[in-house]
Amino acid sequence: MKHSRRAFLEAGLAVPAALSTRQSLLEPASVVSVSVAKDSFFDPWVEIHRENLRYNVQEISLRVGARPILAVIKNNGYGAGVGNIAKLLEPQKEILGFAVVKLHEAHSLRDAGIRKTILLLGPFDEQDLSDAVARNIVPMIYTPLGPALNKIAERLQKPVPVHICIDTGIGRVGVPYHQAVPLVRDVAARKSVHIQGVMMTFTEDTDFDKEQLRRFTETCASLEKEGISLGKKHAASSFALFQHPDAFLDIVRPGMAIYGIYSENEFRHTNILDLRPAISLKSRVIYVKKLRKGDSAGYNRAYLAKDDVWVATLPVGHADGWPRTAAKGAKVRINSGDRDGGDLYPVIASVSASHCIVEVGVQERVKVGDTAIFFDAQPGSRPEDVSEACGASVYDLTMHLNPLLPRCIL
Ligand SMILES: Cc1ncc(COP(=O)(O)O)c(C=O)c1O
Repeated sequence: MKHSRRAFLEAGLAVPAALSTRQSLLEPASVVSVSVAKDSFFDPWVEIHRENLRYNVQEISLRVGARPILAVIKNNGYGAGVGNIAKLLEPQKEILGFAVVKLHEAHSLRDAGIRKTILLLGPFDEQDLSDAVARNIVPMIYTPLGPALNKIAERLQKPVPVHICIDTGIGRVGVPYHQAVPLVRDVAARKSVHIQGVMMTFTEDTDFDKEQLRRFTETCASLEKEGISLGKKHAASSFALFQHPDAFLDIVRPGMAIYGIYSENEFRHTNILDLRPAISLKSRVIYVKKLRKGDSAGYNRAYLAKDDVWVATLPVGHADGWPRTAAKGAKVRINSGDRDGGDLYPVIASVSASHCIVEVGVQERVKVGDTAIFFDAQPGSRPEDVSEACGASVYDLTMHLNPLLPRCIL
């Protein structure tokens, strides 16, 4: 299938929601000068596979006994575009709603017409909170916000729904579990607030996770004994989908598994969940040449040719989100033509901001214009394969994708 990059841009979903929101915040419409982007056929792009997303959600739903899924789509939808992902997932009945960290992402989802629940995990001040609640964005809280919530409820003439985050050992956000009871009691006593849920996050240390779950369930039980209604309880990220069925609770809260990527390489070799990668990074070969024995490549002459060898330059570097560590063992798949398949070639030398180089071998086996696949859904070039080969985290592979790269939904 031949993709025209211009067509991606014209599809309307190509500009990441975060980017368009920022622009609208910074520049009043009257002074925006519209210029037609002159992107190159050779520039990299990101593909999002709607069928794989749909499949992964169904797989997760089967695994969790059809519990509702609160899809974590923070950090620009794990690189796929927060608006793209929400629009693709919203129609699925298994999806209860979405969780994001950044306030602007939450607003951009409402701007894009997303109607399902949006849980805001990130920080906000009182004005942000008021604006968010007015748009049906549900805040995650963990500090004594009672008076602020009273004011907002009074203004909106309705109770403010919240999820309360309890820290059972991750030490990040969340009220420490041993201080949670008075905080939750205070919130529950207010008519201005509706506790829609309580939540925690695992450290993903398998043994300690059990202790965390015990702390959470005991804290919840003691509050419920007082007659306090806690709403839906949730804790399970992708890791817990594999490791902790006892933590599925009322709702599950995965991110990475939805994108079809195993958060830990060892999970690939179990048959707990069949996941199909839904995010790919591709570009074209821009230059092919022969290095002579002794020639160097990369900054600091990181590579020295032991013999005459063909190399190909690819227009993807760490500024695009391709990690510098890729030069420590990752391989890129290069096709002849626009079909799947092709061969894997090692990344050599160093990954610079906008380029990397692959070693093609003793023969000139690739040509300018061939498609280069950095990761996709094919065995050998899955994100987990790149991660395993060079030590880059799969989270960094997708979440660090430059938001300015075009997104193409297949
Ligand atoms: C609070 C919270 N819940 C759930 C997730 C989803 O995690 P994962 O992508 O590992 O499933 C995250 C992501 O880091 C998170 O911060």
